[in-house]
Amino acid sequence: MIEIKDLSKSFIDKNITVDALKNINLKIEKGDIYGIIGLSGAGKSTLIRCINRLEEPTTGSVLIDGQDIMKLKDEEILKIRRRIGMIFQSFNLLSRRDCSKNIAFPLEVAGYHKTNIDDRVNELLDLVGLTDKKHSYPSQLSGGQKQRVAIARALAGKAELLLCDEATSSLDPSTTKSILALLKQINATLGITIILITHQMEVIKEICNKVAVISEGEIVEMGTTFELFSKPKHPVTKRFLGHKSLEGSYESNAQGDNTRRYKLTFLQESARQPIISQMIKRTGVEVNIIAGHISNVQEKYYGNLIIEISGDCEALQKALEYLNQNELYVEELVDNERVV
Ligand SMILES: Nc1ncnc2c1ncn2[C@@H]1O[C@H](COP(=O)(O)OP(=O)(O)O)[C@@H](O)[C@H]1O
Ligand SMILES: [Mg+2]
Repeated sequence: MIEIKDLSKSFIDKNITVDALKNINLKIEKGDIYGIIGLSGAGKSTLIRCINRLEEPTTGSVLIDGQDIMKLKDEEILKIRRRIGMIFQSFNLLSRRDCSKNIAFPLEVAGYHKTNIDDRVNELLDLVGLTDKKHSYPSQLSGGQKQRVAIARALAGKAELLLCDEATSSLDPSTTKSILALLKQINATLGITIILITHQMEVIKEICNKVAVISEGEIVEMGTTFELFSKPKHPVTKRFLGHKSLEGSYESNAQGDNTRRYKLTFLQESARQPIISQMIKRTGVEVNIIAGHISNVQEKYYGNLIIEISGDCEALQKALEYLNQNELYVEELVDNERVV
């Protein structure tokens, strides 16, 4: 549905060029809840703003259903923007309008008839669970309620795509959960595609089916949410996952040339096989189990085990070959590397 191709964006600020986005390539399918995670300044807002051309890319293209939006004229851009809703961290509601009038605003601008507007507003208030707040003003609402109004407003014109720029970043954890549940419901029942940018991995874990990690204007890793959580590769991804250092919590008691430390990731298929005991039997290595735990991402489970294997050079080599033959993900850990 949305294809971002070789997209770059540079800003020139006081004669200094800032390369905010460097050669971004992404494919977002219809029905995805696609997460983009990055630290502050990574380029997330710039990227999401290029999708509805609030920001003009320096080079590259954005295709929506095969149509290159970089080639559209102004009136065509307005048309396509009606299919794209957007919500923000700061809600951006109009303070002088009550909930119903905030939601009605884009419909008024688009020239809808008053009775149609009233019907649609009531439908949206019901969707976001705010029927009883119809005539409340933004100042009378909590953060979560404000974001619900913003979601209703973003969807008012029957948007097919919802862009969320740090939509839950100013909310407390339980309100965040309820807003994410609402987004999930909107995705599931109305089929709306969602692109969500965040700096919080919990948000990704809760609702995204796919995720891209952005760092200094570049996508450093992408995949399904399960892949990224169970087999993170890039250091930036690992940092977002909050991998704690083994240092302090664990001191190796068998360091040396004949000891290797590995992190094993067991996915569903491999979890039931006696891989470790087989490895010991076949290769004669000694195994020291350092740590282990089971995690899940949206009902799918994976296990991590950190082990030390000791033996002579040949046995170590055989053991590694044996592990790699099995359906698990093997990562060698060097001293003080962040794991778990
Ligand atoms: N209008 C602008 N003018 C100059 N620099 C900008 C502008 N907008 C963003 N930037 C710069 O681009 C980089 C990416 O910013 P942004 O997309 O807002 O990051 P994020 O949303 O991930 O925090 C930052 O270095 C920021 O300072
Ligand atoms: Mg931002």
